Amino acid sequence: MSQPITTAVLPVAGWGTRFLPVTKAVPKEMLPIVDRPCIAYVVAEAVASGIEHIVLVTARGKTAMEDYFDRSPALELALEAAGKSDLLAEVRAIARQASIISVRQHEQRGLGHAVLQAAPVVGENDFCVMLPDDIVDGRVWREEGGALHRLPSGDVPALGQLLAARRETGGVVVALKEVPRADTRRYGICAGDWVSPGRMKVDRMVEKPKPEEAPSNFSIVGRYVLPGSIFELLRAQAPGAIGEIQLTDALAVYAGRGEAHGVVFSGAHFDTGNPVGLLAANLHYALRHPAFGEAAAIAVRRSLP
Ligand code: G1P
Repeated sequence: MSQPITTAVLPVAGWGTRFLPVTKAVPKEMLPIVDRPCIAYVVAEAVASGIEHIVLVTARGKTAMEDYFDRSPALELALEAAGKSDLLAEVRAIARQASIISVRQHEQRGLGHAVLQAAPVVGENDFCVMLPDDIVDGRVWREEGGALHRLPSGDVPALGQLLAARRETGGVVVALKEVPRADTRRYGICAGDWVSPGRMKVDRMVEKPKPEEAPSNFSIVGRYVLPGSIFELLRAQAPGAIGEIQLTDALAVYAGRGEAHGVVFSGAHFDTGNPVGLLAANLHYALRHPAFGEAAAIAVRRSLP
């Protein structure tokens, strides 16, 4: 039996130009969804999927993320002295949930190049890649009497769904989502045969094709399970779409060999790489927040003319 996969690589070196000017001083991954930064949702999903080691592929000006996941002795002392034990427990738990390792990407040459920077940490092991722009709420909800209720059973985080598929298929597994054909140029696109409901054996992958050239309208969402052998391919990889070293081009090699699958995951997905997606994620999580979801719903209703 193969070893459980316990490492996830999170590329977080980007400039966040779509969020300028705020990203002049705040990393895009630290922008909040309700009361915590975007990156916290992705790390929580990783941990709930059995991941123990998080590798941040980071860059200059992005140390706020490392601070967020570190212990903060001065803050902990202050909270203890103030008797704020709930907050203290929460602040401590953030640093305890996983080991966080960071490596730097010295120049931005594309997603494939970013993932390659994690090679010295990951070694030959199979691992996951999670793109923090993609936030997926895998919790299951039901609406009743105008209020949202969480169903206690059935929550499987998106990465957990991919890892479960991977135990059966091996090779490469990517998350898939159907998108309008006009949008294919924004994503990696997969085509192949449906081998079971929601599971595609992928034989072609293309990065950002024009709608008329796209082999399907199933896009890759930023969750991947990858074999350690991918690093060898990435080292030899020539620049592809938009002149960058693309992860999708290396994955296409596995697809060509019949060693790649796609999983249409369940869960609410938000692309927080653009302001509208981040706003939608904020509304979604605010309305479901255990402490102030109801108040948020009332505030939204009251603000309407
Ligand atoms: C990256 C990948 C692309 C994938 C997308 C998902 O693109 O290259 O294949 O579909 O993430 O978010 P980017 O968003 O970095 O342009």
